[in-house]
Amino acid sequence: MGLSSPLEDKKLAVIGVGAMGSALVRGLIQSGKVKPEQIVAADIDPSKLAGIQTLGIPTTDDNKSAVQQSEIVLLCVKPQVMDDVLADIAPVTDPKKHCVISIAAGVPIARIEASLPQGTPVIRVMPNTPAQVLAGASAIALGTNADENHRKIAHEIFSAVGLVVDVPEKLMDAVTALSGSGPAYVFVFAEALADAGVNLGLPRDVALKLAAQTLLGAAKMLLETGKHPAELKDMVTSPGGTTIAALSVLERQAFRGAIIEAISAAHQRAKELAKSSSE
Ligand SMILES: NC(=O)c1ccc[n+]([C@@H]2O[C@H](COP(=O)([O-])OP(=O)(O)OC[C@H]3O[C@@H](n4cnc5c(N)ncnc54)[C@H](OP(=O)(O)O)[C@@H]3O)[C@@H](O)[C@H]2O)c1
Repeated sequence: MGLSSPLEDKKLAVIGVGAMGSALVRGLIQSGKVKPEQIVAADIDPSKLAGIQTLGIPTTDDNKSAVQQSEIVLLCVKPQVMDDVLADIAPVTDPKKHCVISIAAGVPIARIEASLPQGTPVIRVMPNTPAQVLAGASAIALGTNADENHRKIAHEIFSAVGLVVDVPEKLMDAVTALSGSGPAYVFVFAEALADAGVNLGLPRDVALKLAAQTLLGAAKMLLETGKHPAELKDMVTSPGGTTIAALSVLERQAFRGAIIEAISAAHQRAKELAKSSSE
């Protein structure tokens, strides 16, 4: 760990070590950004804590105790239990000591700030499930009391499990619709690619491997070359060739329009869910 790491000498409480909390913990340890003894994991489910203990990380079933031992508090519980957890930890949260980071989908920063002592720095993050394989995409929004140093801390944590971008909170529903739900759209696309291969006589396992690696390779080219997707598409598309034959069918079937409308529907639903959870 470099001397300038914003996580150096900090202790992290991870409240809720289910799918996402445990992925974050594993990513942080694997990346070497924190040592196991810098983390304390809290959960009400002993089986989740047992999994974390194998990494050499201290665990507790007492959220308050975890918060008292740390400076950074990562809230990785389901949105439905967030109010209970906030009420639990509020009495031991110190605005001068703690930075609270929530990954709960649809829980606004204002609601978290209102449940904690005045002045508590709060950050909201929307990660996605590929965080489990250290290839996540996370968007970060700062609360009213969070400063540049808190932003750096959040970047350091979430870059352990993939890519990180900053967005204003008003765009979190758009992030949820694009990259939060996105892996599901990509899995459907991968399945369709594999089905197409099977239809043409490829064995299922071969078709699925080719589909997955094609998605991974294309994504890597996009990120690593920085080229516009249209330019990369043109590189594969020779005059009168196979690719343009397929692309003309996709255009006729309104492939792009279907994606744009699908993600608009997810965005609409994210807004509805955020509204109903605050009523
Ligand atoms: N998974 C995703 O794709 C994704 C993406 C972006 C954001 N998120 C957000 O990440 C958060 C966690 O999701 P997840 O999929 O990791 O959920 P999860 O697997 O259910 O993990 C949550 C953990 O918290 C525990 N818990 C429940 N109440 C608690 C309490 N009062 N104190 C301490 N621990 C408690 C749960 O135990 P029990 O199982 O016994 O209840 C469970 O072990 C959610 O808010 C979700 O919106 C998830």
